[in-house]
Amino acid sequence: MFNNLPISLLRVLIIWCLIAGNEGNQTYDEEPDPEISINDAKYQASLRLVSLEKTNGYGHGHICAGTIISQRVILTAAHCVIDVNHTSPSDRKPEEFVIVVGSANLYDKANTLQYKVQNITKHKSFDWETYYNDITLLYLNDSIPWTWPTAEAVSLNSELVPEQTMCNVTDLYSRRTCS
Ligand SMILES: *[C@@H]1O[C@H](CO)[C@@H](O)[C@H](O)[C@H]1NC(C)=O
Ligand SMILES: *[C@@H]1O[C@H](CO)[C@@H](O)[C@H](O)[C@H]1NC(C)=O
Ligand SMILES: *[C@@H]1O[C@H](CO)[C@@H](O)[C@H](O)[C@H]1NC(C)=O
Ligand SMILES: *[C@@H]1O[C@H](CO)[C@@H](O)[C@H](O)[C@H]1NC(C)=O
Ligand SMILES: *[C@@H]1O[C@H](CO)[C@@H](O)[C@H](O)[C@H]1NC(C)=O
Repeated sequence: MFNNLPISLLRVLIIWCLIAGNEGNQTYDEEPDPEISINDAKYQASLRLVSLEKTNGYGHGHICAGTIISQRVILTAAHCVIDVNHTSPSDRKPEEFVIVVGSANLYDKANTLQYKVQNITKHKSFDWETYYNDITLLYLNDSIPWTWPTAEAVSLNSELVPEQTMCNVTDLYSRRTCS
């Protein structure tokens, strides 16, 4: 018997993509996105709006994923720090955000660390219309301890990745499932 119950799990997913030379030409295989453990993507961060967390509950303020690149810095997309609820998009303020790391489940506080955002450095040429330069750095109010078992920086690449290289992409997402 199927119950259409939203079980509100939010997990890290991993998909294959083809890195093409141009945007909009990524292809995805037909496998469903497998769920992975936080241990396979300890760099994953959740970017949340404090206001939505307050009104809708822990985990429900999630608006974007981010990547831990150092103890104080999270990489995310520029469009994630823009408030589209105004007639003309405006920059959100650091205090509107909370950053959560350490878990693959958005709604489970276990093993997580939370941070305030001290500073937002959005790419100065981010273009809202085209999404060009869709990149932002968020500076945390404190350092992520590298002794934490479920948080670490992503390993950065120092070499150019050839076109058509197969890579993994991880994301945090919410979805409804049937049981
Ligand atoms: C983009 O996708 C098309 C259609 O699948 C393919 O023919 C083309 O080679 C791709 N271009 C690149 C740069 O991968
Ligand atoms: C934008 O406004 C709508 C309607 O008031 C609200 O439901 C939604 O949560 C807002 N989105 C953000 C990102 O604040
Ligand atoms: C950073 O922010 C978090 C979350 O609000 C808070 O618990 C922590 O005490 C803050 N750290 C510092 C050094 O202010
Ligand atoms: C925020 O970042 C900008 C640009 O990197 C820098 O000029 C500014 O001093 C920073 N502000 C704070 C409060 O850290
Ligand atoms: C991508 O993820 C799969 C499944 O977890 C893993 O077997 C593979 O090694 C990963 N590839 C890369 C390039 O990280």
